[in-house]
Amino acid sequence: MQKKDYLTWSHDKLLHEYKDLSKRKKFGLVWENKPEEVAEKCKESLPVLKEQKKKEIITNNNSINHIFIEGDNYHALSVLNYTHKKKVDVIFIDPPYNTGNRSWRYNNDYVEKEDRFRHSKWLSFMSKRLRLARNLLKEDGIIVVTIDDYELFTLGLLMDEIFFENNKIGVLAVESNPRGRTTNKFFATSHEYWLVYAKNIDVANIENLPLTEEQKKVFNLKDTISPYRLLPFRRSGGLSTPEERPNSFYPIYWNEEKGKISIEPFNDAVKIIPLDTTGRKRVWRQTRPSLMEAVERGDMVIKKNGNGYTIYMKDRIKSGRKSKTMWIDPKYDASSHGTVLLDKILNRRNAFDYPKSLYSVLDILSILASKKKDAIVLDFFAGSGTTGHAVLEINKRDGGKRQFILCTDNQDNNGSGTKIAEDICYPRIKNVIAGFKDSKGNKIPGLGGNLRYYSTNFVGNVKTDNDKRILTLRSAEMLCIAENTFEKIAEKKELYSIYENANQITGIIFDEDAIKEFKNKVKEYNKPLVIYVFSYNHTYDEDDFKNINNLIKVKPIPEVILNIYRKIYKELYKPKNL
Ligand SMILES: C[S@@+](CC[C@H](N)C(=O)[O-])C[C@H]1O[C@@H](n2cnc3c(N)ncnc32)[C@H](O)[C@@H]1O
Repeated sequence: MQKKDYLTWSHDKLLHEYKDLSKRKKFGLVWENKPEEVAEKCKESLPVLKEQKKKEIITNNNSINHIFIEGDNYHALSVLNYTHKKKVDVIFIDPPYNTGNRSWRYNNDYVEKEDRFRHSKWLSFMSKRLRLARNLLKEDGIIVVTIDDYELFTLGLLMDEIFFENNKIGVLAVESNPRGRTTNKFFATSHEYWLVYAKNIDVANIENLPLTEEQKKVFNLKDTISPYRLLPFRRSGGLSTPEERPNSFYPIYWNEEKGKISIEPFNDAVKIIPLDTTGRKRVWRQTRPSLMEAVERGDMVIKKNGNGYTIYMKDRIKSGRKSKTMWIDPKYDASSHGTVLLDKILNRRNAFDYPKSLYSVLDILSILASKKKDAIVLDFFAGSGTTGHAVLEINKRDGGKRQFILCTDNQDNNGSGTKIAEDICYPRIKNVIAGFKDSKGNKIPGLGGNLRYYSTNFVGNVKTDNDKRILTLRSAEMLCIAENTFEKIAEKKELYSIYENANQITGIIFDEDAIKEFKNKVKEYNKPLVIYVFSYNHTYDEDDFKNINNLIKVKPIPEVILNIYRKIYKELYKPKNL
């Protein structure tokens, strides 16, 4: 069929086509019609962040500032669309699995097994969040979503729709419950799935896992170059006959005294052809040019074998191995290395129902971010905070400066009377950062780092110029996060605030009448300076900021923030007659 050139079509013809296409049957997803209340809220008010200063944890002023956001992740992701657009390297999420066992609510009601629209509700919930999350990934960023059989197929279709099928780089099966779920009537489920998608497969890159001691042992020989093992050079099994691989069938000439191997005949050479033990013709593992390269490298070994010869090629030890899709290892057991570990850190029994094994998250991070030592890692279904713990651990191991951003709601922890953000996730991260005493009184040292704690907050939807001023005043925390400058070093209430980190100063001018005073104040500092200045529109007067030596950039606000919200909420604000 010829491709349609929509650009040349009239408005009416396009509208007709649109209606026609909308009627067609589509493979896949059925959406929930009832809007989600947390999203609808954004029609009336816009999300911002409020810092909970009392909950900050500072172990060292020059250390990495990790970020904790308490609140619904729809709102947190909206804010991050301003502060972290295209800045995130890795997203790891473990959303509610929608098992129907009163473990997940949609619009404040538990979604029960009998609910005919339970998959649609979950889909609508996840879709909104995944779309917001995709905007945050760097071009070479990668997202991992964990799931079990309840929503595997729904999630797979959704991921293909949002991230595109060709960006799917792996579907891992992780044995997280080696004993198997005994409550299952038929098969005892012992594994779950980790769906891994790149933002753009053409630029994505992942690392190998380091070899285990067991795997290293296989390379039991050694020469001056490296440890190696010998693999037979004659191919066996499938595609091993000359008819199937004519280019790999050829004689090899060999003279032991001269130590010479060639593909051309020479004096005193024996001729070796690839025959199997039954005398049938087979092929070599590689073609002539590759064989000669291996000869050059000193990688070919020929041994006399009865009346004949066996040819081997050295398989050299690798620095790591490509991760396989099946992850089976006692260290991935979520009970021993999730539940038990968490209870130990919190000194409490059965603190949280669904923590991941710390080591499973550590391994995925080493594959996705071992070389990215300043990666930003986001988990917006943080639960007990395993992802944050894994980032702290991997930083400790290799001296990296990766930063985590965790977001979790503060819902009651399955009727236990504890709150997930305040009583589980935050204390865990606090103990892991700062150190703690276990139940036997042993001192467990902290892994270091700082934590800045925020909760989601709202400003009335911006309709008037005064609303713009209010939004600007309440955006300070967002701007600090965007600039990574958290230490407040000067402030004049409702006029300006100044923040710093080791390399930069961020000034926020809330009132244009305070520009002169602000300029006088920043003369005291000589680090590079970024200024946010209140403006009713996208512009500011360049003359106002002349002759500031250390100035890098001036950014007018809040129009940019509003534009982000207009863009991500366009569905919420679309005119009724469309
Ligand atoms: C399966 S748990 C994640 C467990 C986590 N991977 C760990 O190892 O502890 C999912 C978490 O997402 C949180 N959650 C669910 N819906 C949320 C929402 N809309 N916004 C923020 N957090 C949410 C729940 O409180 C729950 O703790």
